[in-house]
Amino acid sequence: MRVRAQAKGSGAYLPEKIVTNAEIAKVLDTSDAWIAKRTGIKQRHIAADGELTSDLGIKASQRALDAAGVSADAVDMIICATSTPDETFPATATRIQAELGCTRGSAFDIQAVCSGFIYALSVADSFVRTEQAETVLVIGAETFSRILDWEDRSTCVLFGDGAGALLLQAGEGKGAASDRGVISTHLFSDGRHHDALYVDGGPSSNGKVGHLRMAGKEVFRHAVVRMAEAIDVALEKNQLLPKDIDWLVPHQANSRIIHAMGRRLNLPEERVVVTVDRHANTSAASIPLALAEAVGDGRIKEGDLILMEAMGGGFTWGSALLRW
Ligand code: ACO
Repeated sequence: MRVRAQAKGSGAYLPEKIVTNAEIAKVLDTSDAWIAKRTGIKQRHIAADGELTSDLGIKASQRALDAAGVSADAVDMIICATSTPDETFPATATRIQAELGCTRGSAFDIQAVCSGFIYALSVADSFVRTEQAETVLVIGAETFSRILDWEDRSTCVLFGDGAGALLLQAGEGKGAASDRGVISTHLFSDGRHHDALYVDGGPSSNGKVGHLRMAGKEVFRHAVVRMAEAIDVALEKNQLLPKDIDWLVPHQANSRIIHAMGRRLNLPEERVVVTVDRHANTSAASIPLALAEAVGDGRIKEGDLILMEAMGGGFTWGSALLRW
């Protein structure tokens, strides 16, 4: 028998405040029609003043623990994927750890921008498989509203704030794609694309927080190609066919990219989990938010095979297969 990182529960949290496209169009030269047509986004949640990335992560994590029926004392690793940490250091995961009441094991952040959740899941899976951790909280939490240039209509309309969490626990499997748990993860990056998507600030460059800068068309082009490659690798590695996939839970950046990936897998639209219309792009939080929604409303059921994929700044990209 092999050790597998099995999903025990998921949770989500979105800030109360909702900002619609029409509200943004009151202060910026844009329109609901433009944003909805190009991206599928209709609204986004925005964190309140003083509401931190960790605050969102704590609420999502508590919900994941409750859904799993696991207490905080059982958690021996917390990994938070974020590009909008509370502070430069310590890791946002350590505040989440303290507030949840976890006092043992380790807590640390992972930074791979929109691919962050896939990276964090991969690290968690490796620790569980090598029996160095047993109960791991994998979190994606972001307050991108704090790093947006609210005068740049080509970027500020695309993002939102939120957090999602997944509780993984070691269980036994046969080492096959039929096992419950994380089947495989596939990570990639190519740092030559820095200038297409980055934040123009940081402690070592200019001491400022900075704003997100993006060459949208270039990101779009790469996203479609790279995520398709990541999907193919995940299927080939496990000798699976597109028809074996029950759910696509993709990074939520743009509905055009999401549906292109769904069509590639020949999946009917209702098998593709979409939240981008209501959440916009919440970067590392987007996949766990979508997962928690589809598990919570009963769409995803025990034994279903889920394919996740993402791409983000770096560029980073990747995919993961999880049998719920
Ligand atoms: N409202 C109205 N007009 C706008 C807006 C806006 N919010 N933003 C840009 N425009 C204008 C531009 O100024 C341009 O005008 P021009 O023709 O007069 O110069 C026109 O619309 C077309 O702009 P493009 O940038 O060419 O529009 P495009 O069709 O490429 O759509 C978009 C832009 C939506 C950003 C698209 O490129 C995209 O989705 N890219 C992927 C980016 C992404 O998702 N990044 C997230 C991080 S990475 C990831 O998660 C995958």
